Amino acid sequence: MDKIVIEGGERLFGETDVRGAKNAALPLMAASILAGGRSTVRNAPVLRDVATMARLLAHLGVEIDGGGTRTLTLDASRLRRHEAPYELVKTMRASVLVLGPLVARLGRARVSLPGGCAIGERPIDQHLRGLDAMGARITIDHGYVVAKAPRNGLRGASIVFDIPTVTGTENLMMAAALARGQTLLENAAREPEVEDLAHVLNKMGARIEGAGTPVIHVQGVDALAPFDHAVIPDRIEAGTLLVAAAVTRGDVLLRGCRPEHLEAVVGKLRAAGAEVRAEAGGLRVRGRAEFDPVDITTQPYPGFPTDMQAQLMVLATRSRGQSIITETIFENRLMHVSELRRMGADIHTDGRIAIIRGPTRLTGCAVMASDLRASAALILAALVANGRTEVLRVYHLDRGYERIEQRLRALGAKIRRVRGEA
Ligand code: EPZ
Repeated sequence: MDKIVIEGGERLFGETDVRGAKNAALPLMAASILAGGRSTVRNAPVLRDVATMARLLAHLGVEIDGGGTRTLTLDASRLRRHEAPYELVKTMRASVLVLGPLVARLGRARVSLPGGCAIGERPIDQHLRGLDAMGARITIDHGYVVAKAPRNGLRGASIVFDIPTVTGTENLMMAAALARGQTLLENAAREPEVEDLAHVLNKMGARIEGAGTPVIHVQGVDALAPFDHAVIPDRIEAGTLLVAAAVTRGDVLLRGCRPEHLEAVVGKLRAAGAEVRAEAGGLRVRGRAEFDPVDITTQPYPGFPTDMQAQLMVLATRSRGQSIITETIFENRLMHVSELRRMGADIHTDGRIAIIRGPTRLTGCAVMASDLRASAALILAALVANGRTEVLRVYHLDRGYERIEQRLRALGAKIRRVRGEA
């Protein structure tokens, strides 16, 4: 397993591009199932999770070209399986995104339950309740969800989510696009990735209104056509790079990010004292040696994103005073705290609340990545720490950040990847 070694203390300067959004590319790839013919996903990030989704779709019979590049073509004309096996689903929860499209296109699906993951149990009950409301017969068989549509296909339904779920909204929007009649999704997730998927489904011939708001209307149609679409920029990668520049007292221009997708994050960076402004089609950020404390509570979009919570905790260690960070989305997303403490951070936790006192001088040491965003936070802490840090198990990082060490090195960081054994 590879590790990343960082000599802390370097300030980041320069410009870098933001890659396509992982969490927009994955549902788009699943949407290719809905149409016979060749769809094209452009500006795709080159990531482990994208490769995993490609493997799953190929298993189902989607012909894929361009794997490992930014332009993927996916031809679902000859789907030959409706089963998503445990071996693939267990490595990536987002595999559940094939469930809705398979039931809509083939009338049936057999998808392994994702199981829990590092950040929490992460059930899919909301996905299943919605499909049930659309007339699908849902059974659980040896750890698999078996879904079967009525003989004449899924029917439109009125569905109110107990909580806004991103992939739940995406799954049911895709299923409803080919259902008979109208579907109403209420308390729907409002993330930009949900809106981007609805935009693509409409390009395919779907009739969806309200994506990006809590109420989405879908008028089902008989068939959908393939799409050609460029993935939106990754707001979480952008936010992570903004924090990297801020905590290292740097001055960096992030090209290609969408400021309107980052309002909650930029608001907190400004409140902490970083200078962030729109420039040249992106965002420029200037950091400081010490920040003002800020309190953060993660919320569904457009609130502060849970995927940026660990990164802002690193900035809080550089703030004068006490910051309180509350994680409301996942039940176990504070695992980075113990590693940050080992680097010298003064953090106390009580359930889902973390109290950070600063400023503290972090010191480098060997740390272990646990989930995708926690591993990014450890990289940020290492950039600002005194001395050397080794971040182990960087495969977590590679799931969601494309060659991040190359991009940070180009901005002045002393960072390198050390190839591990197998
Ligand atoms: C999406 O996950 C993202 N992944 C996650 O990003 C992100 O952290 C999360 O949304 C929240 O913003 C993708 O888009 C591929 P949820 P998702 O369903 O859809 C509970 C990353 O780092 N819930 O919105 O799986 C769930 O347990 C990843 O890129 C149910 O109870 O998240 C959680 O507490 C990590 N029942 C909350 O809702 C359900 O049926 C939000 O989950 C579904 C969800």
